[in-house]
Amino acid sequence: MLTGKTIIFGVTGSIAAYKTAEIIRRLKDLNANVRVVMTVNAVNFIGETTLRTLSQNPVYINMFHDSGSLEGPLPHITISDTADLFLIAPATANIIGKVASGIADDLLSTTLLSAGNKPVLMAPAMNERMYKSHIYKHNEKKLQIAGVKFINPEYGKLACGKEGEGRLASVDSIVSRVVDTLIGGNLFDTYDLKGKRVIVTAGGTREYIDPVRFIGNPATGKMGFALARGALAREADVTLISGKTFLVPPKNVKYIPVETADQMGKAVLDSFKHADILVMAAAIGDFKPKKTEKNKIKRKGMLKIDMKPTDDILEKLGKIKNGRITVGFAAETNNLIKNAKTKLKKKNLDLIVVNDITQPDAGFESETNIVKIIDRANDVEELPKWTKEEVAHRIWDRIVELINKNKGV
Ligand code: CTP
Repeated sequence: MLTGKTIIFGVTGSIAAYKTAEIIRRLKDLNANVRVVMTVNAVNFIGETTLRTLSQNPVYINMFHDSGSLEGPLPHITISDTADLFLIAPATANIIGKVASGIADDLLSTTLLSAGNKPVLMAPAMNERMYKSHIYKHNEKKLQIAGVKFINPEYGKLACGKEGEGRLASVDSIVSRVVDTLIGGNLFDTYDLKGKRVIVTAGGTREYIDPVRFIGNPATGKMGFALARGALAREADVTLISGKTFLVPPKNVKYIPVETADQMGKAVLDSFKHADILVMAAAIGDFKPKKTEKNKIKRKGMLKIDMKPTDDILEKLGKIKNGRITVGFAAETNNLIKNAKTKLKKKNLDLIVVNDITQPDAGFESETNIVKIIDRANDVEELPKWTKEEVAHRIWDRIVELINKNKGV
């Protein structure tokens, strides 16, 4: 599956380094070329010989002697030249802080600074107090803005013996993120949406008051984009309709950018005619100003804005779905299940995915989500805190189950 792909695998000094042996073995099973760059501290946690044997390549540690010098005078450049992807697992707070600050004081940090536009995945592992510190979060944000993707750590038993957040993500989720990033495929060869025409909506809408002001919401598009990538991995024909976002649309989708709820409604309605499945992850404004001023409103005293409701897109389509599968999202603050079940009925949905946006690490702007999936039989499936990528795959699994049961498409 990964034939011809070279992964530069950075290993740093965390106890979780022992898990790298298994990750390398799995990547080799997929035929990747794995080149390991270790920090000096990582060698305290796992032996160079182990990683050399498993990767079947020299292991690079120092810039100026041992295997580093095998690469000639500029090992950081020659190593990064060969990369299709950089994976740092485990990534300590130290390497994350160094890369975020542009520090290049050893072979791994220097190689990462020369990564150019190539994808970089970091799988942090550290104590919960470090993971939740402002300094760490600031560094992580800086790297995210620079395009680095994080494979979030899990909750579980930490090296200190206590339970908490900061444990290296599972080998499965690390390997599947690598596969997803490199080939947009998935690990399990489940091309179970092949030939299905899928619409995914993402992001939030903006309802303009005047040319420079709008009423919006904090949706980033991450959940919808993860759904689009998941559907692509399963070989669906994907139309992604998104409100304003800083995310880069995946290759091979039909991408329709929109801004307002009305534009979203029109784009969805147009595409729906030719679709089999619609998943509405977008946070759509429920109200819009009765009138958008042509000129910028000048600041003077109080401002009252008369609002009117926007069309409920899913409710409209629920009446004409004619065998298509429709899935809605519900971002709730209270009475989650009750509200979601009401929406499922009102919008004639097949599934509704509900999350409590007051919980940390769930919903808007987060890399993770904690959701429940409710079906027409009112069964509630509770998912743990997962990355949006993982949540997306579970939603597609549920949709595929519906297809197989012949409910819908
Ligand atoms: N939705 C829609 N059209 C709208 C508003 C929402 O199709 N004008 C979709 C959303 O994309 C989501 C689902 O309906 O999939 C539920 O959205 P939500 O905002 O939670 O529900 P509302 O029906 O707007 O109810 P309320 O905001 O009152 O909770």
